[in-house]
Amino acid sequence: MKNIAVLVSGGGTNLQALIDAQNSGVIKSGKIVLVISNNSDAYALQRAKKADIKTCVCSKKELNASFEDRLIEIIEGNKIDVIVLAGFMCILSEKFTSHFADRIINVHPSLIPAFCGKGFYGLRVHEAALEYGVKVTGATVHFVNEIPDGGKIIMQKAVEIKDGDTPEILQKRVMEEAEWKILPLSLEKVCSELE
Ligand code: GAR
Repeated sequence: MKNIAVLVSGGGTNLQALIDAQNSGVIKSGKIVLVISNNSDAYALQRAKKADIKTCVCSKKELNASFEDRLIEIIEGNKIDVIVLAGFMCILSEKFTSHFADRIINVHPSLIPAFCGKGFYGLRVHEAALEYGVKVTGATVHFVNEIPDGGKIIMQKAVEIKDGDTPEILQKRVMEEAEWKILPLSLEKVCSELE
C-alpha cells in the first residue's frame, strides 16, 4: 500500500473522485493519507475532513521562499510515496519536482500539448479551447517535472465540444467525462507499478 498525498487549491471535485474511487475499490494499491492545500478556504479541505483524511494548510503567500521546503518537510514527515496535484494552482520548481521524480502526477483539463503550460489553468483552459474553435478537447494525467504540464503522459481522454458550450459548461463535461475517470485510474496505475 502506497501512501498518497493530494494537493489542492479549490473546490476539490477531483479529490472527491479519488475518495470515491478509494471507497469503491478502484484505488486499491494506495491510500490517501494527507490532503494539503495552499489555501485555507479551499472547499477541498472540507471534503477531506468529511472522509476522515488528515489535512494541512501550507500557504505560499505566507511562507514565500520557504514554501517548497515546508511542503517537502510535510510530505516526508508523513512518509508519502505518491503526490497528486488535483487542481493545485501553484507551479512547483525543479527543486521540488526532482526531489519526488516520477512520484508526482497532475490532472490537466485539455489534451496536452494543446492549451497547457504557464497561464493555462482552470476555466482559462476551456476559454482558450472555445476561442480557438477546436471540436474535441479532453483531459490529461501526466507525471510532473520542471516544465509546466511537460512531464510524461499517463492517460488521456477526449471530450466532444458542442454548439453553445460556455467555458463553464465545457469544464463540467470535461470533469464528468474525463478528469474524474482518468485521475483515479492513473493513480491506481502509478501506485501499483511503483516499487
Ligand atoms: C480541474 O479542472 C483541474 O483539471 C484544473 O483545475 C480544476 C480543479 O477543480 N487544473 C488545472 O487547470 C491545472 N493546470 P477541482 O478543485 O474541483 O478538482
